[in-house]
Amino acid sequence: PDGPLADALGRPLRDLRISVTDRCNFRCGYCMPKQVFDKHHEFLPHADLLSFEEINRLARVFTGLGVEKLRITGGEPTLRRGLETLLAMLAQLRTPDGRGLDLTLTTNGSTLVKKAAALKAAGLNRLTVSLDGLDDAVFQRMNDVGFPVADVLAGIRAAQDAGLGPIKVNMVVQRGVNDDQILPMARHFRHSGVVLRFIEYMDVGATNGWRMDQVLPSAEVQRRIATEWALTPLSHSAPGETAERWAYADGSGEVGFISSVTQAFCGDCNRARLSTEGRLYTCLFAHRGHDLRGLLRGAEPFSDEQLASAVAGVWTAREDRYSQLRGTAAAGAEPRVEMHYIGG
Ligand code: GTP
Ligand code: 5AD
Ligand code: SF4
Ligand code: SF4
Repeated sequence: PDGPLADALGRPLRDLRISVTDRCNFRCGYCMPKQVFDKHHEFLPHADLLSFEEINRLARVFTGLGVEKLRITGGEPTLRRGLETLLAMLAQLRTPDGRGLDLTLTTNGSTLVKKAAALKAAGLNRLTVSLDGLDDAVFQRMNDVGFPVADVLAGIRAAQDAGLGPIKVNMVVQRGVNDDQILPMARHFRHSGVVLRFIEYMDVGATNGWRMDQVLPSAEVQRRIATEWALTPLSHSAPGETAERWAYADGSGEVGFISSVTQAFCGDCNRARLSTEGRLYTCLFAHRGHDLRGLLRGAEPFSDEQLASAVAGVWTAREDRYSQLRGTAAAGAEPRVEMHYIGG
């Protein structure tokens, strides 16, 4: 179709986040709590996962509908075997007017020492690492599998050395759990070229037992940082951006605040999510997705044109704005999709 596609609230489709595995080697309590995701938990069988060819085909169709940015997520995406092959395919995609896509990935950093160079060589442009603390005891409690923070920090350096910069680091802040790590994290990543972003703990999924009193509002995080280092506001670098950006006044770098709870950013949300098994979700907090895999694998497989009009139909009808509705009856009470399944 010609012209930009807009949803029911006038928002374009720009960002496709693709979950390539529902597995992870960490058990962060707010995402895959150990009690739920134990040895009895059944992950998706391989046949249910979208193949690389299927992902690439869908990504191409989405590109035709306005997508300019692809984010590979999970679970932990680097656990998907052969991921470099997929990245190499996606790196070839072009927008209708011939531009390459912004190809990026969200990882827990645990495999980067080994894999950063290969990810870069395959065509990955940049990278976001999730890291919730600098103190080893706090970090090991957060990942709940005893993974040492030094190995993630070495992974971040490996990614920088591989040319995957500027790296972003995402820290989910939970009051009373890791909020004592805010200043150490800020101090550590000043002068490093890494952009540290603080994320308000969100009520995604149905297993993390989220409570509002566990949220430390970004305004408070910012106040604590400003007691140490002066900050000056930066303008958005892209429409629909999740983070509010600030620079250290002394020129030592940039931090961001992602405030989905206290300052919802649904108004220009341009993100679609493709789950590991090929369901399309139009919101991080959606209750259910639209099965695209069935359209690819059905008795009468859809053509690219048919796929495009199916996706366009879903996007055109989209009314999601969960974070703006949080706490009201309109937000709905049905169980929400899990984040490790749909990707951040
Ligand atoms: P960049 O282009 O690198 O800035 O990507 P991004 O802003 O999309 O950031 P990223 O993918 O790193 O997302 C950071 C975090 O923001 C995620 O892990 C989520 O916690 C949160 N987030 C991202 N997108 C959404 C969204 O659409 N809704 C809500 N509520 N939170 C989101
Ligand atoms: N609230 C905020 N961020 C979350 N993430 C996972 N679960 C939550 C949550 N409940 C983030 C991770 C990572 C990305 C994949 O999503 O920290 O940065
Ligand atoms: Fe794994 Fe990331 Fe979820 Fe932690 S937040 S369990 S690293 S997918
Ligand atoms: Fe987009 Fe849903 Fe997040 Fe709002 S809550 S920003 S609509 S994904």
